[in-house]
Amino acid sequence: MCYNNNMIGIDIEKINRFEHWTDEGYRRIFTDKEIEYARSYENCLERFCGFYCVKEAFVKALDDDRIIFSKIEILHNENGKPYINRTPYINEIIRDHFANKIDVSISHCKDYAVAVVLVE
Ligand SMILES: CC(C)(COP(=O)(O)OP(=O)(O)OC[C@H]1O[C@@H](n2cnc3c(N)ncnc32)[C@H](O)[C@@H]1OP(=O)(O)O)[C@@H](O)C(=O)NCCC(=O)NCCS
Repeated sequence: MCYNNNMIGIDIEKINRFEHWTDEGYRRIFTDKEIEYARSYENCLERFCGFYCVKEAFVKALDDDRIIFSKIEILHNENGKPYINRTPYINEIIRDHFANKIDVSISHCKDYAVAVVLVE
């Protein structure tokens, strides 16, 4: 674990790695709201892949192996901009790193999704 004031993480994943996941597999990693959001799109695998990248990038930013993927929830504001839901669990984790702000960005194309997470 490392303690810095500004922490950045990035992750890129191939979208087709999510092709054969079972419902149970999705539920182990993604929250109900993430599953509902992703499945509201025809190309839902891009969405799942983007969320997965955010979770990986968040862990990379904090370098903290206590973090549980299913407890990181990505939501969207009214303009569609993604953010990490500030649950008590997430607040406690980032407080331990002397941080209070999280910024998230996601992009995807046909084959890959990528996400960057900045924790300040
Ligand atoms: C957001 C936008 C840049 C996406 O670009 P794109 O090249 O089509 O798609 P990308 O794959 O790069 O990005 C898609 C991701 O952008 C993110 N995104 C969507 N809207 C966003 C916004 N307003 N701000 C920041 N990020 C946004 C989402 O995370 C989305 O992925 P997700 O749905 O899986 O979470 C583009 O759709 C755009 O300019 N939209 C207008 C934004 C806006 O201001 N809308 C106002 C609505 S009233």
